[in-house]
Amino acid sequence: MPFLEISDLVVDHDPRTLVRLPVRRADVVARLRDAGDLRGARIAAALPCAPDGTLDPVAVDRRLVAVHTELQRLSEELRLGARVAEVLRPLLAALRAGEVAGPLRVVDVGCGLGYLVRWLAASGVLGPGVDLVGVDFNAALIGEADRLARAENLDCRFVRGDAFALPEPATVYVSTGVLHHFRGPALDAFFAAQAQSSPLATAAGTAATPGPAAFCHFDIAATRLAPIGTWIFHRARMRDPLGRHDGVMSARRTHDDATLLKAAARAEGLVPLVYEPRTRSNPFCTTVRPVLGLRPDLVPALQTALDRTASGRLTGDLADVLARPTPRTAR
Ligand SMILES: C[S@@+](CC[C@H](N)C(=O)[O-])C[C@H]1O[C@@H](n2cnc3c(N)ncnc32)[C@H](O)[C@@H]1O
Repeated sequence: MPFLEISDLVVDHDPRTLVRLPVRRADVVARLRDAGDLRGARIAAALPCAPDGTLDPVAVDRRLVAVHTELQRLSEELRLGARVAEVLRPLLAALRAGEVAGPLRVVDVGCGLGYLVRWLAASGVLGPGVDLVGVDFNAALIGEADRLARAENLDCRFVRGDAFALPEPATVYVSTGVLHHFRGPALDAFFAAQAQSSPLATAAGTAATPGPAAFCHFDIAATRLAPIGTWIFHRARMRDPLGRHDGVMSARRTHDDATLLKAAARAEGLVPLVYEPRTRSNPFCTTVRPVLGLRPDLVPALQTALDRTASGRLTGDLADVLARPTPRTAR
């Protein structure tokens, strides 16, 4: 049975122009029903729609902003910003040690309300000289992210764009809670799109970097406890039935380590690694953890930047990478 999230079904865009496309409520209800998800079908059937049967886009956006606001509260409780920073800081230290041409730009793909980008900007935890950008294809979420950042007077920006045709070049692409939305070929394409993203101009404006030096994508860890843990957490902390539904589904859809490593290998030129692999993580403590990609010559610098214990949490083709004599090329 496919596990579907209502929020994925109620919005549609032309992937090239990002023009919003109408969505028929009956189609959403039918897809959920066909998947055996009667509860989801009931929630979708109650969404407001126009006389022609298409969902009211304003009402859908309002609902999605409300759900994402609840999601932000969960992110705060899970200390998501600090968890990402715990990996991102050593990653950026490795890039700086490897003399990756500046500026350093961190782009959050599928940023939603931009909680991570705003947290990083407000905390200053990544140090100076780091541009912070959030990208999402949903105009309502990007608009709200931008409003919140301006209200907090934060040095970051938000751009509308598709994860498969990224509008913003980056030194490091990051995401939280996004990977499980992409299945099969779409997951491969998600990673490939980052490696193929357009170059980031250096500070001098003359040379250009050919692609990102790294990525760091956090998602729910595929432990045996994840579905029940997520159910309890969403039941206790989320009020909106749509948010509760999608939160529980997301834990069921989360990818295992082997799937992530295989898909991340599609980002050509970057070594795929999993931090806190399932085999070495405590299922009671590990709620989210990232799949990383890194230029091979930067792997030793990352191991140095992580402390000894943290470095031991990396899994992937490390032995192979470390044995390879990799010429250091400017990127
Ligand atoms: C579960 S939400 C996570 C939001 C945010 N990262 C967080 O942690 O709160 C998934 C986000 O991915 C966005 N998204 C899904 N597919 C996308 C695509 N193809 N391009 C850009 N954003 C996408 C959705 O609009 C949504 O904001």
